[in-house]
Parts: sequence; structure tokens; C-alpha cells
Amino acid sequence: MNDTKRKIKKRLRSLQSLPTLPPIVGKLTKLIGDENATANQVAALIEKDQVLTSKVLKMVNSAFYGFPRRISTVSNAIVLLGFNVIRTLIITASIFETMQSNDLSLWEHSLGVAAASDILARKLELQNPEEVTTAGLLHDLGKVVIRTEFPDLYRKVIDLVRQKKIYFLEAEKEILGIDHGEIGRLLANQWNLPERLLEPIAYHHEVHKARKFKKETAIVHFADIMTRAEGYGSGGDPWVPPLHEKAWKLLKLTEEDLKEMIPIFEDRLLELRFFTLEMQDENYGKNSHSS
Ligand SMILES: [Fe+2]
Ligand SMILES: [Fe+2]
Repeated sequence: MNDTKRKIKKRLRSLQSLPTLPPIVGKLTKLIGDENATANQVAALIEKDQVLTSKVLKMVNSAFYGFPRRISTVSNAIVLLGFNVIRTLIITASIFETMQSNDLSLWEHSLGVAAASDILARKLELQNPEEVTTAGLLHDLGKVVIRTEFPDLYRKVIDLVRQKKIYFLEAEKEILGIDHGEIGRLLANQWNLPERLLEPIAYHHEVHKARKFKKETAIVHFADIMTRAEGYGSGGDPWVPPLHEKAWKLLKLTEEDLKEMIPIFEDRLLELRFFTLEMQDENYGKNSHSS
């Protein structure tokens, strides 16, 4: 293991949570782990935090989950999405805050991948499409952490991408000795995120390594490519990577399927533009308020 990798791993172990991760996440994890916990108890805990409640509802109602009806209460959201998705959304809301102030284009990229994951998971009739969507939202978690925790190394990665015209992932391996998939996996594990999310986060660039959640991983991989191909946001480099052969075999999509899905995806991306503008406006409002 090289020195940089060792240093990164050590620092990651101390990241019990992101600096912005609210204490409610710990309480929520405990409550959800309790077999007797009810949706109402969980909802009551979340609703104590007004800001968080509005963020969760905003995400649930946004274009990355394709619900036709508006979901207006946290208990409704829990019934529709399940405990795990709601808990992950709370973590996501916090990570998004970091992304919004650090890297808007990565944030947009993540939203696009979530929307594409949702469309693919529903098309392929997966049992938990919402969890796959959430995996899409969080898939590049490792990149956020590299940027916020190791800004100097992040700079070097970006410079190398430009200089050598290589993929972000390759530059990470060269500079850091570890890539954002593995960093994401270490953190997701540490934060007790469900395994269904862990594999897509870890292996969305190396689909062949997925063991239990192969389809979910292949979907996020494909969604990443779809989003890059649309030029929506940025995942750190300007190139569209090739589709992993294994992913193509797993998903068994036809050309017809693609023809049907692409316009739906493009519509969703348009809606997402409004969502991101709205969220940004709110953030600026908040910032100017506090200054
Ligand atoms: Fe990635
Ligand atoms: Fe990505």
C-alpha cells in the first residue's frame, strides 16, 4: 500500500460522519434498527427538524423519483419509500449541502444519475427501484470526500486528468492509490448504509466485481454513462466511458428499450434543472440571511 493510500484510509476511519451530517442520523439509525419501531415514530423524529423535513420532502417529490402524486408528509414518504431510503436521504441531504457549496456540476451529475437509475430500475422491474435511485444519488460519494477532505490531492487529480486526458478514475489511482469507488465503499460501510447501496457505490465503474447486487450495480453504471452522454453536470472529466460488457449482458436492454427511455430521461433532466435552480436560490437566500 502506498503512503498516500495509507494516509487517506486512516483519515477516512476518523470520518464517523461528514462534518455536516446531523446528529439525527445516529438517532434514526438506532430507531430503525429497533424491530418494534413504527413509521409514525420515525416520522415524528424527522419532523422535529423542520429544515430536514422540508429537504426530505423536496427530494422525494423531485424528478429523480418518478412519483406521480405529491407526497406531503414524512409518514407518507416512509410508507412509499421505506425506512432505509429515508435514512439514506437524510445522509444524502447533508452530502448535497457539501456538494452544492463545493461542486455544483458533480451535484447535477448525481441528480442525473439518480433519475436515470430510477427509469432503468422501473423498466427492468426491480423490486426496490427507490433504493437503486438512492444508490444513483450517492454513487460518487467518494469524489465529494476527496474534494472536501483532501483538497490538495484533489487538485492534483484534476490536473492530471487535464494534462494526460485520462479518466478521473485513472488519475485517482495514479495519484491517490485508491479510487472514489473504494473510498465510497469504506464510508458507506462505516455509516451502515444498506448493502444494496454499497455495491453500486463501490463498483459502478467495475461492474464485474459486484457479488450480490449485480443488476443494481449495472444500472448505476449505465445511468452514469447516460448522464455523461447527455452532458448533464460533470463527473470530473469530460469523457463518456465505454459501457461495461458485463453490464450490458446483465441488463439485457434492447434498442427499442433505449429509444423509449431516452426521451423520458431528457424530460426528467429538464425538470431537474428547475429543481436545482430552486435549491440554489434557497441556499443563496440562506447565505445572505446569515451574513
Ligand atoms: Fe464514479
Ligand atoms: Fe458518476
